[in-house]
Amino acid sequence: MAGSCAGVANPDRAFRLVASTTVVGRLLSTVGGVGQNGAMVRAIPDPEGIRTATTLPAAWYASADHHRLELDRVFRRGWVCAGVVDDLPPDGAWRAVRVGGVPVLLVRDRDGVLRAFLNVCRHRGAPLCDEGDVGDGPLLRCPYHSWLYRLDGSLARASGVGEPDGFDPGDHSLTEVGVASWRRTVWVDTSGTAGELSLGSLAAAIDAFPLESFDVVVSERDERPFNWKVLLENYSENYHTPFVHPEIDTTATEDYPMVSDGAVLYAWDRPLRPVDEAQRILHDLLPGEPGWERLATAATTRPYEVGNYLTVWPNLMMNVFPDAALVMWVEPSSPNTTVVERRLYLRPGTAPEVAERIAATHRLVHEQDVDICTRVQRTHDAGLDARGRLATVEERGVFFVHERLRAALA
Ligand code: FES
Ligand SMILES: [Fe+2]
Repeated sequence: MAGSCAGVANPDRAFRLVASTTVVGRLLSTVGGVGQNGAMVRAIPDPEGIRTATTLPAAWYASADHHRLELDRVFRRGWVCAGVVDDLPPDGAWRAVRVGGVPVLLVRDRDGVLRAFLNVCRHRGAPLCDEGDVGDGPLLRCPYHSWLYRLDGSLARASGVGEPDGFDPGDHSLTEVGVASWRRTVWVDTSGTAGELSLGSLAAAIDAFPLESFDVVVSERDERPFNWKVLLENYSENYHTPFVHPEIDTTATEDYPMVSDGAVLYAWDRPLRPVDEAQRILHDLLPGEPGWERLATAATTRPYEVGNYLTVWPNLMMNVFPDAALVMWVEPSSPNTTVVERRLYLRPGTAPEVAERIAATHRLVHEQDVDICTRVQRTHDAGLDARGRLATVEERGVFFVHERLRAALA
């Protein structure tokens, strides 16, 4: 059945009906001063350049040449989220993943030391195992000519190699790359040159939330038909929420300010009229200011509205609440396809019916986002430039994504 394409006789009225309130008031409130119903909110200055910013060309979402450039400059020159610690191999085991198109082995030796290597045999380059494979044992065996590697990456045996001049097994270890963890996520630097993982001051603003103690309730992986940036942009703005997710629209009661520092864009649910301790923190403070850490334990009647939303360049998205977290990361699989991984975590002891409701809401919202992203990608695939302008308040997150990308490509 064909879908509908609704016309609108009075755009302003339609906007208000969908949002159930004066969204225009909300937009004004976000830039500070007297907002909706006279509520005062703190001003957050415009990021420099947003008023003249334009959207990116369609080719940046669809061309093979541009995609190769992004893989090289964005995904292969620094730290990239490669998953969550829940999926790491146990001691004496390994798992093959893909990071920015690069095959990587995550290996934990029998002493528990985690290392990452290119999943490339140092003989003639066969992968030691396929993406997604897991294995364990004292040695990794290449399936092609059976060279054997220890779990520290060193070459243990090259059977049948004969006597190549000057051949030293010590010169043929697996190529080690950077691996690090931050909270419940795992990061890989395939360039091996990025130095220590450092996500900046805003990453510390969620330090007090007990993510490590939460249980996994949803673990899903899907390849989706859009460029990786389409989802990152979608996640990094709330402008679309009243229209794409009318079920969760909260524009009557809160706004959605954003700040950024380094790799992190931080947005949060800011109640316009705070009614409890957590809401007062969200209302009064900026992320990371003294007192912000109390959010994780502050009294609230609505823990699932104490929302912290982090876009961590280049490919991680995290929702953090006192009792729950969503971790979502993307791996570009082609110019117009992306593997999207999601994990939903809840505090142990969450009632099953509550967990079910949260999981169902998450899936609904995600499918709605996937649907609009899929449709936007069709425009990019057709090579049609929107030549758009960004909303100066609501699309600060989109601007953040574009600025990080432009800096990486410069
Ligand atoms: S390519 Fe691995 S042993 Fe030959
Ligand atoms: Fe959305």
